[in-house]
Amino acid sequence: MDVIELDDPTDAQIREWHGVLTAVHAADPAGDPAPEPERTAAGLLGAEPGSRQRLWAVADGDRMLAVAALRLPGEPGADRPAEIDVRVRPGWRRRGLGARLLAVAAEGLRADGRSSVIAQVLAGTPAVPFLESHGFECVLTLKGMLLQLDEVSPERVARLVAEGPRGYRLVRWRGVVPDEHADALAHAKTAMADLAEYEGTPWDAHRVREMAEVVAKRGDELYTVAALAGDAIAGFTEVVVPADAAGRAAQYDTAVAPEHRGRRLGLWVKAAMLQWLAAERPEVREIETDNAGDNAHMIAVNEELGFRVERESREYQAAVSALPTAG
Ligand SMILES: CC(C)(COP(=O)(O)OP(=O)(O)OC[C@H]1O[C@@H](n2cnc3c(N)ncnc32)[C@H](O)[C@@H]1OP(=O)(O)O)[C@@H](O)C(=O)NCCC(=O)NCCS
Repeated sequence: MDVIELDDPTDAQIREWHGVLTAVHAADPAGDPAPEPERTAAGLLGAEPGSRQRLWAVADGDRMLAVAALRLPGEPGADRPAEIDVRVRPGWRRRGLGARLLAVAAEGLRADGRSSVIAQVLAGTPAVPFLESHGFECVLTLKGMLLQLDEVSPERVARLVAEGPRGYRLVRWRGVVPDEHADALAHAKTAMADLAEYEGTPWDAHRVREMAEVVAKRGDELYTVAALAGDAIAGFTEVVVPADAAGRAAQYDTAVAPEHRGRRLGLWVKAAMLQWLAAERPEVREIETDNAGDNAHMIAVNEELGFRVERESREYQAAVSALPTAG
């Protein structure tokens, strides 16, 4: 069995890769919808803008047994962590395939001048001992929450929107932020201090636009609702509706700037988002969100809106110098 690198995946290789994802999903159901073949193909054929990726597989003849994708945001040597995802067919685990792919990916990280790498995994799955035995440490715990929209009363949402705090006004946009709000949005995103520090990259207008373009390039639609205090964004929330929505939308960032906290702005922008989506995208039946386990305020806001905890995931990080070498 060899480790092969996929520079330009063929249709057959994309099908094999998708087969591995499907088998892994069936064995470790996370409450997520099953992977879609089109999405797998799009992900393999092009990295997200502003990012490069390298792909490897362990194959027995034409059949893939395990796959690994390494996402490299920014230029080679950029001071941003890369992201690794390794998946091994359930019947082929504990034979060192995952470790082989990780070692090959570690060489890729060194070749790209990276100093750290992250992985997001579900708590309570084999990924935890796998990563912990390879130099990774847990840096963040995330609570995956789900809101069933048919359980949300439109009257209650309308009341929450009407009861917004004085001195603020709501604005909303689809896709890339309008120029007049771009700097203010970058400033507000920096208010998500925990995540910003952890990612190590400050937000600016360019990065805010780049993130929205990444979503659009995938064919997904980004919705943003913000509360303005004068020209400043005091708080905002973002939801992405995937192209093949299948009824589930994803909560992206929500933040309230420190000087505006304690006025229920988080609840206000989120309620306004629910109202907008109900009118604009009635096919959306549920919204999923990940919250840092120690973010009690955000979790409380979500619970007030009716979100329920579904699963716990963890972000792991390793210094590339701590990773095993291939060979
Ligand atoms: C996590 C995963 C990639 C591990 O793949 P694998 O090929 O079984 O891992 P390896 O055989 O290379 O294991 C290497 C070491 O990791 C640890 N490990 C892996 N799975 C483990 C488990 N279920 N329980 C305890 N330790 C485990 C062990 O130390 C193991 O060495 P050992 O077998 O000599 O004891 C695989 O279980 C998987 O695909 N899970 C689902 C997808 C996922 O969560 N991926 C992680 C994203 S990075």
